[in-house]
Amino acid sequence: MAAGKGTRLKSKHPKVLHEVGGKPILAHVIATAQKVVPAQDIFVIIGHEAERVREAVAGTGVNFVLQAAQRGTGHALMVAREALLGNGTKYDQVIVLSGDAPLITAETIRKLSDFHTAQKATMTLLSADLDDPYGYGRVLRKGGRVEVQAIVEEKAATPQQKKIREINSGFYAFDVAALYEHVNRLSTENAHGEYYLTDMAAMFHRARKKVVAIKTSDGSEVLGSNTRTEMMVLDARLRLAKCRELLENGVTIFYPHTCVIDSDVEVGADTVIEPFVQLLGSTKIGADCRIRSYSVIGNSVIGDRVTVKPGTIMEDSRVSAGAVIGPYSHLRPGSDVGEGAHVGNFVETKKIKLGKGSKANHLSYLGDAEIGEGVNIGAGTITCNYDGVNKHKTVIEDGVFIGSDSTLVAPVRIGRGAYVAAASCITEDVPADALALGRARQSVKEGWARVKRDTQKEKHR
Ligand code: UD1
Ligand code: CA
Repeated sequence: MAAGKGTRLKSKHPKVLHEVGGKPILAHVIATAQKVVPAQDIFVIIGHEAERVREAVAGTGVNFVLQAAQRGTGHALMVAREALLGNGTKYDQVIVLSGDAPLITAETIRKLSDFHTAQKATMTLLSADLDDPYGYGRVLRKGGRVEVQAIVEEKAATPQQKKIREINSGFYAFDVAALYEHVNRLSTENAHGEYYLTDMAAMFHRARKKVVAIKTSDGSEVLGSNTRTEMMVLDARLRLAKCRELLENGVTIFYPHTCVIDSDVEVGADTVIEPFVQLLGSTKIGADCRIRSYSVIGNSVIGDRVTVKPGTIMEDSRVSAGAVIGPYSHLRPGSDVGEGAHVGNFVETKKIKLGKGSKANHLSYLGDAEIGEGVNIGAGTITCNYDGVNKHKTVIEDGVFIGSDSTLVAPVRIGRGAYVAAASCITEDVPADALALGRARQSVKEGWARVKRDTQKEKHR
């Protein structure tokens, strides 16, 4: 169920697209569901901002059911009748997941489903004991029995019922045929004027059908995200869990509370992550690397034994083994740094290939360039890749030496082993092994400064 608006967030974005652990809440739930059943058997109920939600998770291959007007969790299941029941032979059992509870695990979903089957129940709900059950539906059981009589929502609960710590998690298993035999009898006579799926418990109970609950051993798994505060709690949990996973896999992380590491990030053993590092999106980092403080690395692939010095920003880039990046390098999308290459301070790169062992150590802009192996890019080198309308390419072949403060006006090619003299403005191709000078010749006026000083002294006398 992912059709709700998320009124309590006070947001223009649909609730399930808010991010925790670096990806949409709904993406977490779908990824977990996919560990239990194949994508073609997953139906995501969308409604509020349906197209945005669909687009965000369409890549997973799941199906969608449109709940055009969101009239409650019971109504969400009503609109899924065709998808789940069809002509009556499609599915026996449906597992209902809350699209806003991202910490659920595949193991717990399987337990819920297996318990439902073993109990031959009509409805099985996943419950949890929470220290602070406020806001959740409470589970009413007769004595200590597995059978459930009803679920009562926070707003309708009596002071006595509010003391119950066993809450309804919003995850259920249903017998599909029984669900669709009864679901249309739900009413909207409640605090929100909605069809509550939770009312199915009492309805089945009255019809003498078996309703049971299975409790999670870890209550935090079912935490929902109705408010930004709840999301903050989930985000912190996910990120700390991610750090623990990496630590267990041989990664050192100093002060993990200061690091932001997204759920899908991978890091190799013996890599050290210093405080205040962000590793985002689909970033993959090899073994034996050191990622120093204040680096922000998004959707990038870094090989083994790479050093990323402090303050480096990297997006959609690739860095091969043994390279050294930073401090304060900015690798923009499409940067591909070769084995053992160096990119130093205040060097900005975009859409470039920097060959094996090449160095650009200081204060440069390298964009739309193909740079060979063993190239030395002097301090202050700039590829002039943009003529105001189009982008052009700079090619620098193997073994080239570019003197400091040179501008390379693209399209231009510097041949293998050539030298470009410092402060040159290169507008034409340089052949292999040549020296190119593109600057005015220096002129010297002997004694000029002394004369100037002397005349100034005269004036002041
Ligand atoms: C629901 C349960 C509550 C339980 C809690 C657990 C009901 C009436 N209450 O409350 O007992 O303790 O979950 O987190 O079900 N949705 C739709 N269509 C709708 C309305 C909601 O798809 O018309 C989706 C929402 O996007 C959300 C999920 O269903 O992902 C749950 O809805 P929400 O409004 O968050 O229910 P809660 O108030 O949290
Ligand atoms: Ca909720």
